[in-house]
Amino acid sequence: MIGRIPENILEEILSRVDIVELIGGYIPLKRAGRNFKACCPFHQEKTPSFTLSPDRQIYHCFGCGESGNAFKFLMRHERMEFPEAVEMLAKKAGVILPEASRQDPGATSLITSIFKVNELAVLNYERSMQSIESTKAKDYLVERGISEQSARLFKIGFATERWDSLMSHLRTQGVNVSLMEKAGLIIPKDVGGYYDRFRNRLMFPVFDLKNRPLGFGGRVLDQNLPKYINSPETAVYTKGKHLYGLNWSKDAIRDSDSAAVVEGYLDFILPYQAGFKNIVASLGTALTVEQIRLLKRYTHNVVLVYDGDSAGEMATLRSLDIFIEEDMQVKVATLPKGFDPDSFVRKFGVEKFKELVQQAQSLFDYKLGIFKSRFNQKEVEDKARICTHMLESIVKFKSAVLQSEYLKRLSQELDIREEALLEELRKQKSSSPAKRLQSAAAKKPLGINPTEKFLIGLMLEENNLIERIRNSLEPADFHDERASRIVSVMFDLASQGRSVEPRTLIHHFNEEDISQIVCESIFLDDIAKHDKEKLANDCIQRMKLDRLRLRRENLHEQIKTAQHLGEEEKLHELMQEFHNLIKKG
Ligand code: CTP
Ligand code: MN
Repeated sequence: MIGRIPENILEEILSRVDIVELIGGYIPLKRAGRNFKACCPFHQEKTPSFTLSPDRQIYHCFGCGESGNAFKFLMRHERMEFPEAVEMLAKKAGVILPEASRQDPGATSLITSIFKVNELAVLNYERSMQSIESTKAKDYLVERGISEQSARLFKIGFATERWDSLMSHLRTQGVNVSLMEKAGLIIPKDVGGYYDRFRNRLMFPVFDLKNRPLGFGGRVLDQNLPKYINSPETAVYTKGKHLYGLNWSKDAIRDSDSAAVVEGYLDFILPYQAGFKNIVASLGTALTVEQIRLLKRYTHNVVLVYDGDSAGEMATLRSLDIFIEEDMQVKVATLPKGFDPDSFVRKFGVEKFKELVQQAQSLFDYKLGIFKSRFNQKEVEDKARICTHMLESIVKFKSAVLQSEYLKRLSQELDIREEALLEELRKQKSSSPAKRLQSAAAKKPLGINPTEKFLIGLMLEENNLIERIRNSLEPADFHDERASRIVSVMFDLASQGRSVEPRTLIHHFNEEDISQIVCESIFLDDIAKHDKEKLANDCIQRMKLDRLRLRRENLHEQIKTAQHLGEEEKLHELMQEFHNLIKKG
């Protein structure tokens, strides 16, 4: 939908907008030396740790780690998408965006038109709900325990039995059938002409974060099949990219810093109307990465509340692993058999539902429970299978600390030696190139090594030092995979004779972690005060020593394994290498 905006234009915008003025328009700032300080707008705090650099045009909070440039600030604070933030700042800066990078005008008008038609459809279905024809729809709402207030809030409507109810209404509003079809509201007949997609159904509109109607789900009022009919994919609606209810629950999710994820419309509505407001629905499908990222804007803590029957399915288990990859904390609450959140809340009340969510199991316990019940732990083969499945999840943790913690637990639970598990974990890590990359990231400790961060800060502060450092170190010498990528780009830029600015790096990568590292590096206080040349030399020295030490440790490990396995020849080679290394160091 949106073309790529050329790098130089982004640069141009950033260079014309003053981040101090921008952020100062939202929160009060206080000068502190060469920077500004404020109480962080992204987390609760009493002493200001939100720091703003007018020189660098970036912000960083030492409390919560949030950091970035002017675009990022708008994206976070105003919850804008990147193109929106760019457009807004471009206006402010008087920079004209090239046509190609704006939305394709044809596409824009189709999107806007579909939203318009959908809005008309929402109104029409709501109005039908009030008509005589719809007593059974109203009765059904009562039967399902949906209050009138909820029906209004969620704009629940009714599609009548007639074949052209919506179509003829929209016609009177001047909407042409081709547009109705593109909105997925009508279906062409084989013999020519069209008919309404939704008939005799309770209608749930699905909205985006700006409360624009994306599409609909329609439920039968009885036991007929299919139970639900949904809008097809359209120019505005893509399956698996939205979460039902997030437009109503996002504030509650941010405030409570947690979200319950349920499956169905009613599973969202019933708890919400009973006061459990930090909730969204995935609408039946296994969660996708897009949906998880949408949630991640508001919280990192998620509890899945799935029906007893579907919870153990492989699709669910797999979608749980995506949470780990996305660095989210995920727990699973299990409902009693035969219940879903909707029926549970109606039978036991919302307080019991809250308890159930609070008692949710960690992902680890949940998965282990499932596999233990599926396989027979007493059989060696089955035990190995449980291990393989569990390690598939464990390998995905970015934090080495968590990995080793869970390995320990697995070892206790299954009564298997930790070393054996570690060996298996290594095998899994190295089984694909993608996984190998991941494990490189997983090996490092949580935070980045201070020396590496310091060197990045030095190079940013004093571009002249880049050449000097490039002669002594390679990007691969940086142990932290992210640091290594940053340094590699810095080296490239410098060798092209370009200046290396923090903000350039930040949007070159456009990654949370990278932006945080860059910001932390340049706000290191000591750098400005000392002899930078000397600092650089010290850091290089230390990195070289570290590198040797690591090589030695690594070899030592390999030697132990070779000894253990009795691989004489390999052992010999390794010992040789080890001695050479010691001579050097
Ligand atoms: N769903 C769907 N099409 C179907 C069945 C289900 O799109 N044929 C989606 C709907 O979004 C539904 C969700 O999957 O809300 C969960 O399905 P299910 O658990 O079967 O239905 P419930 O939500 O329990 O439906 P209800 O309570 O209305 O009977
Ligand atoms: Mn249900």
